[in-house]
Amino acid sequence: MMNVLLVSGVAVLAVLTGCTGSSMPPQAVLIEPRSFAVMGPNADFRTDSFNMLFNPTNSTPPIFQVFDERFLSILGPNATIREIASNATFAFAHEAPIYNEPTDELFFASNDGGPLGMSSLTQSNVISKISIKKVEAALAANPTGPVNVPITQLNLSDSIQMTNGGTGPYKSSLLLITSGRGPLPPSIALVNTLPPYNVTVLLDNYYGRQFASLNDIKIHPTNGKFFFTDVDYGFLNVFRPAPLIPFQVYRFDPDTSSVRVVADGFNKPNGIAITPDGKTAYVSDTGSSGGFLGNNLTLPATIYAFDIDPDTDVFKNRRVVAYADAGVPDGIQQDSDGNIYSGCADGTQVWAPDGTLLGKFFVGMSSAEMIFAGEDKNGNGRLVILAETKMYLANIAAKSINLSGP
Ligand SMILES: *[C@@H]1O[C@H](CO)[C@@H](O)[C@H](O)[C@H]1NC(C)=O
Ligand SMILES: *[C@@H]1O[C@H](CO)[C@@H](O)[C@H](O)[C@H]1NC(C)=O
Ligand SMILES: *[C@@H]1O[C@H](CO)[C@@H](O)[C@H](O)[C@H]1NC(C)=O
Ligand SMILES: *[C@@H]1O[C@H](CO)[C@@H](O)[C@H](O)[C@H]1NC(C)=O
Ligand SMILES: *[C@@H]1O[C@H](CO)[C@@H](O)[C@H](O)[C@H]1NC(C)=O
Ligand SMILES: *[C@@H]1O[C@H](CO)[C@@H](O)[C@H](O)[C@H]1NC(C)=O
Repeated sequence: MMNVLLVSGVAVLAVLTGCTGSSMPPQAVLIEPRSFAVMGPNADFRTDSFNMLFNPTNSTPPIFQVFDERFLSILGPNATIREIASNATFAFAHEAPIYNEPTDELFFASNDGGPLGMSSLTQSNVISKISIKKVEAALAANPTGPVNVPITQLNLSDSIQMTNGGTGPYKSSLLLITSGRGPLPPSIALVNTLPPYNVTVLLDNYYGRQFASLNDIKIHPTNGKFFFTDVDYGFLNVFRPAPLIPFQVYRFDPDTSSVRVVADGFNKPNGIAITPDGKTAYVSDTGSSGGFLGNNLTLPATIYAFDIDPDTDVFKNRRVVAYADAGVPDGIQQDSDGNIYSGCADGTQVWAPDGTLLGKFFVGMSSAEMIFAGEDKNGNGRLVILAETKMYLANIAAKSINLSGP
């Protein structure tokens, strides 16, 4: 369980809900950085980033924590965040969210090997889907929520083992990246969005060698190539053998099936995203989260940016974008204004492209990923947050980018 830390010793907190008038959604809490910049010698400082969260107003989640006024433009005046599905005993909503517009469904994977994942060396995790249309119907009948809309589990072939990431749709199929299980290799695969959910594996080795446990993937928006990360979480979650290859970022060309390395030098490369102009890549390094080795707060919980070389696709000019205060920044998504969203120990954190932390979708529990699932009837973006045993929907002014490639 997460303990939500109340930072005491802060004399005056700026919960200025009345200050910005009607532009402030009811679930938003303004927390100006100067209100907590000095906590005093006797304050309860956080000693753990994973289990002690930053909630200085002690507001009950889910809330929007606003650290910078630019977050109010992302939210819009009518923003809401509501719980839409839950299962206390099953981390059904972990990663690999893919929104399929033609059927108005969201596909996603359960936790692979982690707590409440119901998966292990002897059992793969599962892909499920939820109908966003049914979510909207349930919320129309119960506007404040929570609602619990049933999910449907897919029955996939054994070539899909421990899905950890996904994107697209790509050519109308789900594009999944899997960590493998035991001797079964990590892979990149396409899955039909419709029954019988047939699978086509596109890649399962690097010149005859297995990857460690593939983690996350995006399609380059202008050249159509796939960029993906490989790391040792399969080993750290005790469902893959010890790695025999460095943890790095690769590029796959779906036209030729050739694969190459484009970046290395990470502790644990994890989430990945590419800006819509195709020029910049973001990669999160979740070194701080160590599986059976334990969490190590001195290792990275950091998003880096790189320039993508237009001729070679190699990542150049690495620089820090953001360091997450809570847990690690896992999956990365963007909105159409270039803001950067990442799943952390407290929900979804949002940074401007300049690296300023603008605000959080603070759900008070760990979230590895989130995705925009189209727009509601008022033209608001529908951001679905995967929080392991719960799923949330935030209706906000910000909109999705297109993840399907050129
Ligand atoms: C917010 O909701 C109000 C009341 O329903 C509506 O009049 C207004 O147009 C909405 N604003 C936006 C930006 O959606
Ligand atoms: C939670 O998920 C498990 C595994 O799929 C299932 O057996 C159980 O019925 C679910 N519980 C609820 C309350 O939906
Ligand atoms: C998967 O198989 C189960 C058991 O046969 C079935 O009830 C379920 O409908 C199938 N799921 C899908 C999405 O077809
Ligand atoms: C699924 O099977 C259909 C019919 O054979 C085929 O057209 C489609 O490409 C397949 N999709 C995948 C992802 O394998
Ligand atoms: C944490 O990581 C640092 C840097 O690699 C290392 O020096 C230290 O020993 C680690 N601490 C633990 C408890 O493993
Ligand atoms: C995204 O781009 C693809 C390929 O250009 C296109 O087919 C698809 O309709 C776009 N999706 C949306 C939701 O606009």
